[in-house]
Amino acid sequence: MIKIIVNTPKGGVGKTTTATNTALFLAQSGYRIWAIDLAGGLLMSKALQKTPEFSAINSINKIDLRETEKVPNKFPGANNFDFAVLDTDDSFTVGADLLQGTRTSWRVLSPVNPHDNIGLQRIPKEIRSVATATYLSPSELKISIFANMAYGGDVIALPD
Ligand SMILES: Nc1ncnc2c1ncn2[C@@H]1O[C@H](COP(=O)(O)OP(=O)(O)OP(=O)(O)O)[C@@H](O)[C@H]1O
Ligand SMILES: [Mg+2]
Repeated sequence: MIKIIVNTPKGGVGKTTTATNTALFLAQSGYRIWAIDLAGGLLMSKALQKTPEFSAINSINKIDLRETEKVPNKFPGANNFDFAVLDTDDSFTVGADLLQGTRTSWRVLSPVNPHDNIGLQRIPKEIRSVATATYLSPSELKISIFANMAYGGDVIALPD
Protein backbone atom coordinates (compact mmCIF):
# COMPACT_ATOMS: atom_id res chain seq x y z
CA MET A 1 0.00 0.00 0.00
CA ILE A 2 1.37 3.39 -1.02
CA LYS A 3 0.74 6.18 1.49
CA ILE A 4 0.06 9.65 0.11
CA ILE A 5 0.06 12.34 2.77
CA VAL A 6 -1.01 15.89 1.92
CA ASN A 7 0.70 18.47 4.11
CA THR A 8 2.17 21.96 4.12
CA PRO A 9 2.93 24.28 7.02
CA LYS A 10 0.37 26.80 5.67
CA GLY A 11 -3.41 26.86 6.10
CA GLY A 12 -5.98 27.32 3.40
CA VAL A 13 -3.81 26.43 0.42
CA GLY A 14 -5.78 23.39 -0.69
CA LYS A 15 -4.58 20.44 1.38
CA THR A 16 -8.08 19.06 1.95
CA THR A 17 -9.13 19.79 -1.62
CA THR A 18 -6.06 17.96 -2.91
CA ALA A 19 -6.43 15.00 -0.56
CA THR A 20 -10.14 14.60 -1.27
CA ASN A 21 -9.75 14.76 -5.02
CA THR A 22 -6.72 12.49 -5.01
CA ALA A 23 -8.63 9.87 -3.01
CA LEU A 24 -11.69 10.13 -5.22
CA PHE A 25 -9.74 10.11 -8.47
CA LEU A 26 -7.80 7.01 -7.46
CA ALA A 27 -11.01 5.29 -6.30
CA GLN A 28 -12.68 6.10 -9.60
CA SER A 29 -9.63 4.66 -11.34
CA GLY A 30 -10.32 1.33 -9.69
CA TYR A 31 -7.77 1.43 -6.88
CA ARG A 32 -8.74 0.42 -3.36
CA ILE A 33 -8.45 3.54 -1.21
CA TRP A 34 -8.10 4.01 2.52
CA ALA A 35 -8.86 7.71 3.21
CA ILE A 36 -7.44 8.73 6.58
CA ASP A 37 -8.64 12.08 7.91
CA LEU A 38 -6.28 13.68 10.39
CA ALA A 39 -7.53 17.23 9.79
CA GLY A 40 -9.83 19.28 12.01
CA GLY A 41 -13.26 19.76 10.52
CA LEU A 42 -13.15 16.35 8.85
CA LEU A 43 -14.03 17.95 5.54
CA MET A 44 -12.41 15.23 3.44
CA SER A 45 -14.45 12.58 5.25
CA LYS A 46 -17.66 14.50 4.86
CA ALA A 47 -17.05 15.00 1.15
CA LEU A 48 -16.06 11.39 0.45
CA GLN A 49 -19.03 10.04 2.43
CA LYS A 50 -21.26 11.63 -0.19
CA THR A 51 -19.67 9.72 -3.06
CA PRO A 52 -20.84 6.31 -4.26
CA GLU A 53 -17.22 5.16 -4.33
CA PHE A 54 -16.96 5.51 -0.55
CA SER A 55 -20.57 5.17 0.65
CA ALA A 56 -21.72 1.98 -1.10
CA ILE A 57 -22.37 -0.83 1.39
CA ASN A 58 -20.02 -3.20 -0.42
CA SER A 59 -17.41 -0.48 -1.10
CA ILE A 60 -13.81 -1.61 -1.26
CA ASN A 61 -12.82 1.86 -0.03
CA LYS A 62 -12.72 2.99 3.56
CA ILE A 63 -12.87 6.31 5.44
CA ASP A 64 -11.00 6.48 8.71
CA LEU A 65 -11.03 9.31 11.26
CA ARG A 66 -8.11 9.56 13.61
CA GLU A 67 -7.84 12.13 16.36
CA THR A 68 -4.12 12.56 16.42
CA GLU A 69 -1.55 15.17 15.57
CA LYS A 70 0.89 12.52 14.53
CA VAL A 71 1.26 10.64 11.31
CA PRO A 72 0.22 7.05 12.05
CA ASN A 73 2.88 4.41 11.96
CA LYS A 74 0.75 1.27 11.87
CA PHE A 75 -1.74 0.38 9.18
CA PRO A 76 -3.50 -2.84 10.15
CA GLY A 77 -5.24 -4.31 7.12
CA ALA A 78 -3.07 -2.41 4.66
CA ASN A 79 -3.07 -5.41 2.33
CA ASN A 80 -6.71 -4.64 1.51
CA PHE A 81 -5.80 -1.29 -0.05
CA ASP A 82 -3.66 0.03 -2.88
CA PHE A 83 -3.34 3.60 -1.53
CA ALA A 84 -3.82 5.37 1.78
CA VAL A 85 -4.59 9.07 1.29
CA LEU A 86 -4.06 11.19 4.41
CA ASP A 87 -5.30 14.75 4.91
CA THR A 88 -3.55 16.80 7.59
CA ASP A 89 -3.64 20.22 9.23
CA ASP A 90 -0.81 22.68 8.79
CA SER A 91 0.15 22.09 12.44
CA PHE A 92 1.51 18.67 11.49
CA THR A 93 5.27 18.31 11.30
CA VAL A 94 5.40 15.76 8.58
CA GLY A 95 9.08 16.07 7.79
CA ALA A 96 10.15 15.38 11.38
CA ASP A 97 7.55 12.66 11.85
CA LEU A 98 8.55 10.83 8.74
CA LEU A 99 12.21 10.94 9.67
CA GLN A 100 11.61 9.18 12.96
CA GLY A 101 11.56 5.78 11.39
CA THR A 102 11.94 3.96 8.17
CA ARG A 103 8.68 4.45 6.39
CA THR A 104 8.45 2.68 3.11
CA SER A 105 6.10 3.61 0.30
CA TRP A 106 5.41 7.15 1.50
CA ARG A 107 4.66 10.11 -0.76
CA VAL A 108 4.11 13.72 0.37
CA LEU A 109 2.01 16.19 -1.64
CA SER A 110 2.47 19.86 -0.68
CA PRO A 111 0.17 22.39 -2.37
CA VAL A 112 1.27 26.03 -2.34
CA ASN A 113 -0.57 29.17 -3.38
CA PRO A 114 1.40 31.02 -6.07
CA HIS A 115 -0.36 34.34 -5.33
CA ASP A 116 0.16 34.27 -1.60
CA ASN A 117 2.99 36.64 -0.67
CA ILE A 118 3.14 35.39 2.90
CA GLY A 119 3.40 31.87 1.59
CA LEU A 120 6.14 32.77 -0.81
CA GLN A 121 8.24 34.25 1.95
CA ARG A 122 7.58 31.53 4.46
CA ILE A 123 6.74 28.32 2.74
CA PRO A 124 9.93 27.65 0.76
CA LYS A 125 11.89 27.88 3.99
CA GLU A 126 9.52 25.68 5.95
CA ILE A 127 9.09 23.14 3.23
CA ARG A 128 12.85 22.80 3.21
CA SER A 129 12.61 20.64 6.33
CA VAL A 130 10.17 18.33 4.60
CA ALA A 131 12.30 18.26 1.47
CA THR A 132 15.41 17.56 3.52
CA ALA A 133 13.61 14.70 5.22
CA THR A 134 12.78 13.39 1.78
CA TYR A 135 16.39 13.39 0.67
CA LEU A 136 17.78 11.98 3.91
CA SER A 137 15.18 9.33 4.55
CA PRO A 138 16.36 5.79 3.96
CA SER A 139 12.85 4.93 2.78
CA GLU A 140 11.24 5.59 -0.58
CA LEU A 141 9.71 8.81 0.78
CA LYS A 142 9.18 11.38 -1.94
CA ILE A 143 7.76 14.89 -1.86
CA SER A 144 5.94 16.82 -4.56
CA ILE A 145 5.46 20.55 -4.09
CA PHE A 146 3.00 22.01 -6.55
CA ALA A 147 1.12 25.24 -7.21
CA ASN A 148 -2.61 25.13 -6.55
CA MET A 149 -3.81 26.70 -9.75
CA ALA A 150 -7.13 27.80 -8.22
CA TYR A 151 -5.30 30.93 -7.20
CA GLY A 152 -4.05 31.72 -10.70
CA GLY A 153 -0.61 31.95 -12.23
CA ASP A 154 1.59 29.14 -13.32
CA VAL A 155 5.00 30.18 -12.05
CA ILE A 156 6.27 30.30 -8.49
CA ALA A 157 9.06 32.85 -8.13
CA LEU A 158 11.19 31.35 -5.40
CA PRO A 159 13.54 33.75 -3.60
CA ASP A 160 17.26 33.44 -4.31
N1 LIG B 1 -8.11 24.10 -7.03
C1 LIG B 1 -9.11 24.75 -6.40
N2 LIG B 1 -10.16 25.23 -7.09
C2 LIG B 1 -11.15 25.90 -6.46
N3 LIG B 1 -11.18 26.16 -5.15
C3 LIG B 1 -10.16 25.71 -4.42
C4 LIG B 1 -9.08 24.99 -4.99
N4 LIG B 1 -8.19 24.68 -4.01
C5 LIG B 1 -8.71 25.18 -2.89
N5 LIG B 1 -9.88 25.80 -3.11
C6 LIG B 1 -10.71 26.46 -2.10
O1 LIG B 1 -9.87 27.15 -1.18
C7 LIG B 1 -10.34 26.96 0.15
C8 LIG B 1 -9.26 26.31 1.00
O2 LIG B 1 -9.02 24.99 0.48
P1 LIG B 1 -8.76 23.75 1.47
O3 LIG B 1 -9.81 23.69 2.53
O4 LIG B 1 -8.58 22.55 0.62
O5 LIG B 1 -7.38 24.19 2.10
P2 LIG B 1 -6.62 23.55 3.34
O6 LIG B 1 -5.17 23.74 3.07
O7 LIG B 1 -7.09 22.18 3.58
O8 LIG B 1 -7.12 24.50 4.49
P3 LIG B 1 -6.97 24.27 6.08
O9 LIG B 1 -5.58 24.70 6.44
O10 LIG B 1 -8.04 25.18 6.66
O11 LIG B 1 -7.23 22.82 6.36
C9 LIG B 1 -11.61 26.13 0.06
O12 LIG B 1 -12.73 26.99 0.07
C10 LIG B 1 -11.47 25.43 -1.26
O13 LIG B 1 -12.73 25.12 -1.82
MG1 LIG C 1 -7.86 21.28 5.34
